[in-house]
Amino acid sequence: MADVKNQEEVLILGIETSCDETAAAVVRNGRQALSNVIYSQIDLHTVYGGVVPEIASRKHIEKINQVIQKALEDAGTTLEQITAVAVTCGPGLVGALLVGVAEAKAIAFASGKPLVGVHHIEGHICANYLEDKELEPPFLCLVVSGGHSHLVMVHDYGAYEILGQTRDDAAGEAFDKVARAIGLGYPGGPKIDRVSCEGNQEAIAFPRAKLEDSVYDFSFSGLKSAVLNYLHDCERKGIKVCQADVAASFQKAVVDVLTEHSLRAIEQYRVKKFAIAGGVASNAHLRAALQEACAKRGVAFYRPAPILCTDNAAMIGAAGYYEYQKGVRHGWDLNAVPGLKLGERI
Ligand code: KG4
Ligand code: ZN
Repeated sequence: MADVKNQEEVLILGIETSCDETAAAVVRNGRQALSNVIYSQIDLHTVYGGVVPEIASRKHIEKINQVIQKALEDAGTTLEQITAVAVTCGPGLVGALLVGVAEAKAIAFASGKPLVGVHHIEGHICANYLEDKELEPPFLCLVVSGGHSHLVMVHDYGAYEILGQTRDDAAGEAFDKVARAIGLGYPGGPKIDRVSCEGNQEAIAFPRAKLEDSVYDFSFSGLKSAVLNYLHDCERKGIKVCQADVAASFQKAVVDVLTEHSLRAIEQYRVKKFAIAGGVASNAHLRAALQEACAKRGVAFYRPAPILCTDNAAMIGAAGYYEYQKGVRHGWDLNAVPGLKLGERI
């Protein structure tokens, strides 16, 4: 890939609506977010204890035009100055994805700009290019979000090899379910992150799952069940549960497993650069553990700012830039693909 500084300016309008964030951003040459507008629907879904797909879609429809308009204004650009429109086309909630895809198609069609469909997880990985302008593949990336837990070797821009993934719950899903069980509510990740600071992470010995047939795959459902069993046991025995201790001990089990798997791959593949991505990558304890582990081994550690870890459209603009540079263009028949696999071409 040529040095972006020697190329003419490429401005990508990124659009993201795969779950409960309505987001738009303008990204310059894949590395600089000129704007990053996020309308979070979290408050709407909190009362239901999780994301309600139909409400998410309806809210995206209501907000998307204002969010895009603000993204253009914040960046000081007009639609005419935009080079291409990139949009998340999967994976995610189908109704939510469709709003972004239909919007992107309409804008691209009306303005005569190319349309680029982007994989949501690829977007998460590319958030690292926004944070660190010098980062180039190859590197190893731990992607931990609400729907995915992947250990990915990034061989080149857009060239991914999945070393391991979750067999059941994603890391973020486990955070959300445990948070609900201990009465913290939705969204679980940030709440457990906060509450665990007041707890003892050694208080309860929760299990760390090991899968014999694949050393890089994850499983978090056993851990989630262990937390639920612990809570039922306490209730049966009339023991008062310390919310902070459960949160801290659960979080330590997740952080230990994610760190151990990452280190195994770092050693096995002699990795020099290691990055993290996805909503769970904004977890302060995970960031600290991985930072320390990498520093001990002389491995460069990359982590996007928390706002670039959770869902946003700047990451879609960054991923869209590299796809655009490779010549990827989608037609007016681009559709939402809720189960789209990383590396799968549509
Ligand atoms: O990447 P993301 O914003 O959306 C998906 O693509 O799924 O990730 C959302 C997930 C949620 O499960 C949320 O609880 C979790 O990321 N999360 C966190 C933290 N912030 C968000 N998990 C642990 N610690 C956090 N600070
Ligand atoms: Zn995400």
